[in-house]
Amino acid sequence: MKEKLDKLLKLKQEKDAVILAHYYVPDEVQDIADYVGDSYYLSEIATKVEAQTIVLCGVEFMGESAKILNPDKKVLLPAANADCPMAHMAAVEKIEEIRKEYEDVAVVCYVNSTAELKMNADVCVTSSNAAKIVKQLPNKHIFFIPDENLGSYVAAQVPEKHIILNDGYCHVHSNVRREDILKAKKARPNAQVLVHPECKEEVVALADYAGSTSGIIEYATESEAQEFIIGTEMGVFHELKKRNPGKSFYVAGNLQICPNMKKITVDKVISALENGQPEVILSEEVRNRAYAPLSRMLELAGQ
Ligand code: 13P
Ligand code: SF4
Repeated sequence: MKEKLDKLLKLKQEKDAVILAHYYVPDEVQDIADYVGDSYYLSEIATKVEAQTIVLCGVEFMGESAKILNPDKKVLLPAANADCPMAHMAAVEKIEEIRKEYEDVAVVCYVNSTAELKMNADVCVTSSNAAKIVKQLPNKHIFFIPDENLGSYVAAQVPEKHIILNDGYCHVHSNVRREDILKAKKARPNAQVLVHPECKEEVVALADYAGSTSGIIEYATESEAQEFIIGTEMGVFHELKKRNPGKSFYVAGNLQICPNMKKITVDKVISALENGQPEVILSEEVRNRAYAPLSRMLELAGQ
């Protein structure tokens, strides 16, 4: 590993590169990253780093967001086939239909989406700011794409809006079952239940806290509780344990693993830097049209 780390350091200097990683990538990839965070943090930090090359250790939509926000930088995605299936679970035709039906509708697009969907949206959101941003919109009708579960969570947080749901879902989070939480809670009655809002509504209803990956990590770190049942992808356990060596963390039910996030390896990061690819390439039209909803997210999230 020492040899690999030396090689990586040298390549980073040579290519003027910075490594960003999501909490769901394998532990050893998180360990070599310069910045690790949730999807909001990654898009925000991508606009602040000075390096000319950004290596985005995450799935395709994360690399695309970094490129859209930084068109002059080279963005490398170490595993070209690491894609989030939910990112494709909405249709432009449906957006057009809803726009015809509701004149004042705002199309709110979760960042877990293709660049094509973002191009057709009014604003992007992540799980850490979705409710906050929807609250600030002047529109009464909101078409929330692609995640139905996050959309339901937002609807509960912002009851004054009419949220139109779309039937996308994350196969990792929607696999966390209500019975799993109840069983885990029975086995560890003192544990707090922390879940991602991509989980089903009936699962979120049982949680002590629902929030983004960073939100879950911060909540557990600040909490006085000593045991936690976690309803999100297991990559977060690495940071949870690092920050809280004395506390115990348990998976709610089956192993929650995102196979696409796990495609990223240290070797692929090295190879991406060596070869300058796989690189995120988007047409100017896509970049320009998808920029507005993403930058509006950064603006509204900061207010
Ligand atoms: P976060 O925005 O919480 O990082 O979540 C990203 C994601 O892909 C959840 O499945
Ligand atoms: Fe997509 Fe789910 Fe994986 Fe997140 S955990 S990247 S939403 S498949």
